[in-house]
Amino acid sequence: MPAYTWLFEIKDSVQEGDVVVNVPEAFLASTHQKVVASREALQLVAYLQSLKQVKLPGEKSPLFLYKREQPAAAGDGASPVLNGAELYANNCQSCHQPNGEGLKGAFPPLKGSKIVLNDDPELMVDIIMNGYTGRMQEGFGEMPAVGTLNKLTPGEVAAIMNHERSSWGNNSRKVTEEQVKVIMEKVKKQ
Ligand code: HEC
Repeated sequence: MPAYTWLFEIKDSVQEGDVVVNVPEAFLASTHQKVVASREALQLVAYLQSLKQVKLPGEKSPLFLYKREQPAAAGDGASPVLNGAELYANNCQSCHQPNGEGLKGAFPPLKGSKIVLNDDPELMVDIIMNGYTGRMQEGFGEMPAVGTLNKLTPGEVAAIMNHERSSWGNNSRKVTEEQVKVIMEKVKKQ
C-alpha cells in the first residue's frame, strides 16, 4: 500500500481537537514533530467506518496486512523447511479463513474446491500468482495477485498448495517445487 502523506500534516505543536498519529521517531525529522490527521483523513475514516462490514467468524479479526516472513536460516546450509500451514496463515487465511471454508458472499471455500482438488495444478498456480475473477458473477470478490504481490517463491507456493490440497478433508496429489516453477514461468504476466 502506498503512503498517503498528503492526508496528514506535520506540526510542531498540537492544537485542541487535533488527532495525533503516533509514528515511530525514526520516521520523523525531529522528535518535536507531530503527525496530525487532516480533515480529509478523518472524513475518509468516518466514511469507511460507516460501511457495512461483514462479521467475520472467530474471536478476533484476522490481519489484512501481508506479512513477509524471512525463512529461518538453516545452519547446515540446507534449504529451510517451508511450513505450508504457516505460509497459508500469512498469505491466504485472512480471506479463505483458517478452516478453508471462505466467507459466504466474499471469499469462496478452498475445502472441496474443484480447482484445489484438480490433479492438474496449473489453474491453481495461475490463480495464486495472477489473481482470479472467474467467480465474480456468483457474488465473490476479486482475488488479487497474492503470490506475485507477496513475492512468493516456487517452493513457498508448492508448500501452500500442498497444505490446501491435504487439509480440511481435501485429499489431492501433492505438487513439487519443480512442477510449480515450470508453471510459474508459463503463466507469468510480462
Ligand atoms: C484478499 C483476499 C484473498 C486472499 C488473500 C487470497 N484469496 Fe484466493 N480468492 C479470493 C477471492 C475473492 C476468490 C474468488 C475470485 C472470483 O470471484 O473469481 C478466490 C479464489 C481462489 C481460488 C479458486 C477457488 C475455487 O474453487 O473457485 C483458489 C484456489 C484460491 N483463491 C487460492 C488462494 C491461495 C492459495 C491464497 C494464498 C496464497 C489465496 N487464495 C489468497 C480472495 C483471496
